[in-house]
Amino acid sequence: MTIQQQIEQLRKQINEHNYQYYVLDDPLITDSEYDRLFRQLQQLEKDHPEYLTPDSPTQRIGAAPLAEFSQVTHHIPMLSLDNAFDDTEFTAFYRRVLERLNTPEIEYACEPKLDGLAVSLHYEDGHLVRAATRGDGYIGEDITQNVRTIRAIPLQLRGNDYPSLLEIRGEVFMPKSSFNALNERASQAGEKLFANPRNAAAGSLRQLDSNITAERHLSFYCYGLGAVAWEPWPWQTHSETLAQLKQWGIRVNELSQVAKSFEECCQYYQSLMQQRASLSYDIDGVVFKVNSYALQQTLGFVSRAPRWAVAYKFPAEEEMTELLDVDFQVGRTGTLTPVARLKPVFVGGATVSNATLHNMDEIARKDIKIGDTVIVRRAGDVIPEVVSAILSRRPSDARDIVLPLKCPVCDSEVLRVAGEAAARCTGGLVCSAQRKEGIKHFAGRKAMDIEGLGDKLIEQLVQVNLLHTVADIYQLDVLKLASLDRMAMKSAQNVMDAIEKSKSTTLAKFIYALGIREVGEATAKSLAKELGSLEAVQQASEEALQEIADIGPIVAAHIHHFFQQPHNVDVVQALLKAGIHWPQEVKGEQSQSLQGKTYVLTGTLQRMTREQAKERLEAKGATVSGSVSKQTTAVIAGAAAGSKLTKAEQLGVAILGEEDLLKLLD
Ligand code: IVH
Repeated sequence: MTIQQQIEQLRKQINEHNYQYYVLDDPLITDSEYDRLFRQLQQLEKDHPEYLTPDSPTQRIGAAPLAEFSQVTHHIPMLSLDNAFDDTEFTAFYRRVLERLNTPEIEYACEPKLDGLAVSLHYEDGHLVRAATRGDGYIGEDITQNVRTIRAIPLQLRGNDYPSLLEIRGEVFMPKSSFNALNERASQAGEKLFANPRNAAAGSLRQLDSNITAERHLSFYCYGLGAVAWEPWPWQTHSETLAQLKQWGIRVNELSQVAKSFEECCQYYQSLMQQRASLSYDIDGVVFKVNSYALQQTLGFVSRAPRWAVAYKFPAEEEMTELLDVDFQVGRTGTLTPVARLKPVFVGGATVSNATLHNMDEIARKDIKIGDTVIVRRAGDVIPEVVSAILSRRPSDARDIVLPLKCPVCDSEVLRVAGEAAARCTGGLVCSAQRKEGIKHFAGRKAMDIEGLGDKLIEQLVQVNLLHTVADIYQLDVLKLASLDRMAMKSAQNVMDAIEKSKSTTLAKFIYALGIREVGEATAKSLAKELGSLEAVQQASEEALQEIADIGPIVAAHIHHFFQQPHNVDVVQALLKAGIHWPQEVKGEQSQSLQGKTYVLTGTLQRMTREQAKERLEAKGATVSGSVSKQTTAVIAGAAAGSKLTKAEQLGVAILGEEDLLKLLD
């Protein structure tokens, strides 16, 4: 094969893997295999620059910064959508459409409303030649260089049966993981944080230097067409068009669906609202589009929005309200967390009157004062937080938020360690707030799992001095419990039963329950697995602890320090004496019943995510691979499994279903 052929073959392979990954959501190879191909191509192109083409997958960065963006005219205007903010408004839209069309029922294409920025992509003879922002809908800005850095957007279409001109329209957005990483970097550099992924995406797309855009890891989904060279367009519906675009390598949202009735539309809306928090990107509603192009045409447009579509918005996750005051809450490890007391506001589907301000550094960075009008965010089950203050509305009597010098609960001194964001109460076990939080943690579901010993009960028990340390839990009796407010004999007995039951646990849960700073569930598991016994953990030196995966010097120091404290040793002794026990850990490994076996996961599993399945298989010693080969023990196929299933069939590799997987894991 000539060098040129090798280069072309590599490009084809990489483009195909991009397609598998972004469009089909079904990668055939691991990231490291992909990187290897990519580097191979980069090397060949470096050695033979004469074969470099602008379409090569390696050519996604490195354009020289622009002085300004040039303007682009949209020959077909980029319109906006009408919104429906509640059930009544959506029902009104639905009815209006049926009345205008004079029909009892029609089909809708349903899609998530992505929270990003609209872009137009021009493909000429299959090559991405121009990308533009929406601008005012008629004239946008040329952001081709920036868009070329987005890997989810193909530089070249697949196949060869596409129109000579194809204008794709869709949304560029920043995945939540990219957003968090970006803000993490900004925070470390002491820079201003982006308020949300949408703002971050906007800021990243309007960079004159495309190298910056490339670092921001944006993504893209297509939701429609602009100008095309084919007249008439051969497909009759929006959903058929999207399916065709997918064939050409354009990424279409996998949650897009067709609904055939009002009920189905409502179900889709509810289902997306449920999934919202767990998606890897922000959505702010559902877009419903009349599926048939003929009917779309009949309906037409009013001013700047189509009559055939609506954006049915989810309840807003951010609202404005007033910051009335700030209290400091003391956590399990003494951390003082500033908590905003707010004028109650309805946000993210609930009324919020408290929100976290995280720590003093965050308050300083966001420049928040008492009396400010602030933006509060409540997304899914995440604790509500104050995102920012609206400085233009700051009243003249706004007050600074001051860290107290003494713990608001136990009056001990408050310390701020240099280099740490948190301020801490130095009271330790003297501080009833720390004790309460420590006991809550100990009794929690992921720790000793004492059902019925909830926050309120623990607070009471600490208040009346029945609980001083976690070991005291095992000194409680029915009479003591029943003497408390709102505690009948029956419920007291239930709590006692749960306490008794909790004595049988695992070493990992016990270590986690102790509430050692920085020791979460995963670290506790590693400690149990690697060291095998509590004595070994207690006696391990900081050096020995650092040998364990994921334990660095800071965590090692916390663990070591914890077991050096006589009062901690006493509590641990008392717990063991009370009868807490666990099965012996097999040091260094679990039952490795799947040692030497290799599995490939594909499709959607019902009972767990692919990631969870992978973890559990690996915990049993199996290898989980991204690609099917003759060496694969079996392919585990969930719903809508694609090419990997076909490949397994071709190679005669065993195919298992979800039930088989559960049996393997059992
Ligand atoms: S269709 C004529 N579909 O929402 C219809 N828009 O409020 C044009 N958006 O500017 C838009 N997800 O940036 C459509 N699945 C989706 C969308 C979507 C997000 C954005 C888009 C548009 C804005 C309109």
